[in-house]
Parts: sequence; C-alpha cells; structure tokens
Amino acid sequence: MADHYDDLQASYGRCLRAGGFIERFYEIFLASHADIAPMFEKTDFRQQQIALRRGISIAISHAAGMAMVQRSVKEMGQVHSRKGRTPVRPSLYGYWIDSLVAAVREFDPEANPALLERWRKGMGMVVASFTEQY
Ligand code: HEM
Repeated sequence: MADHYDDLQASYGRCLRAGGFIERFYEIFLASHADIAPMFEKTDFRQQQIALRRGISIAISHAAGMAMVQRSVKEMGQVHSRKGRTPVRPSLYGYWIDSLVAAVREFDPEANPALLERWRKGMGMVVASFTEQY
C-alpha cells in the first residue's frame, strides 16, 4: 500500500501548534556546522521561516509521492544547486536532517524513536532529490 506519511503530517502539525518550531530548528541548524551560519548572514529570517515552513510541508508531500509538489521540489532543488542562488553542497544535508529531527524531538510531545526514524526516511527523500539536481 502507498505510504502517505500521515504520521509525519500529524507530527509536523503538533510541532507547529506549539509555536517557535521553525525558529528553534534554525537555532540548532546554524550551530550544527561551522559553514552553515555564514550562509545565512544576509538572510531575512522572517521570510526564511515562512519559506521553510512551506518547504517542509512540500517535502512531506514529496515523500508521500504526491505528483502535485514535483515542481516545487524541483524549484527548491534548483535554488540549492551549484548554479542556483544558494548552492548547498550535498555533504551538508545530513546536518539539516539531524537538526530537524532534534527540533521535532523537542516539540512533538508524541515523538519516539520510531517516529524520528520516519522523519529521517521522509526528509531523506527530498534531500536525495536535491543531491541529484546538484
Ligand atoms: C544543508 C542544508 C541547507 C542549507 C545550508 C540551506 C541554506 C539556505 C539558504 C542560505 C537559503 C537562502 C536564504 C536567503 O534568501 O538569504 C535557503 C533558502 C531556502 N531553502 Fe534551504 N538550505 C538547506 C536545505 C534545505 C532543504 C532540505 C529545504 C527543503 C526542505 C530547503 C528549503 C529552502 C527554501 C524553500 C528556501 C527559500 C528559497 C527561495 O528564496 O526561493 N533548504 N536555504
């Protein structure tokens, strides 16, 4: 049967409901590797938080195989490709996933090791797509 990643949708909902989830993600993420904070030196975080909030939602739908988000995934991948506005070398993606999982662990009251593993699996798919486009 198709995996709709309803468990991630629900978990993400619980994370957002608490408030401050995306902010906390960026706090963890920027501290996770010395090369990452400098990339965000000129970033307007208010804008960026909105962009990523939507980006994660798209990433979950992508993992669930929803064709509707294919174009959005491609566009985000292009932004982060070698020739994009914000190139991200694929070796950094592990820090992104680790940081997101750490933030989910803090914010989702129902987080458990199996659910966090599901987050890794789901987000691994969007990262694989970005890596392919790099
Ligand atoms: C190591 C991993 C990553 C790094 C270092 C990174 C870094 C960045 C930076 C520096 C920006 C530009 C901010 C600005 O405009 O000043 C950006 C934009 C963005 N990133 Fe990432 N990113 C990473 C992974 C991801 C992933 C996995 C997603 C999606 C799930 C994502 C979604 C976005 C989106 C939607 C934008 C806004 C794009 C736009 O302005 O059109 N990023 N990222």
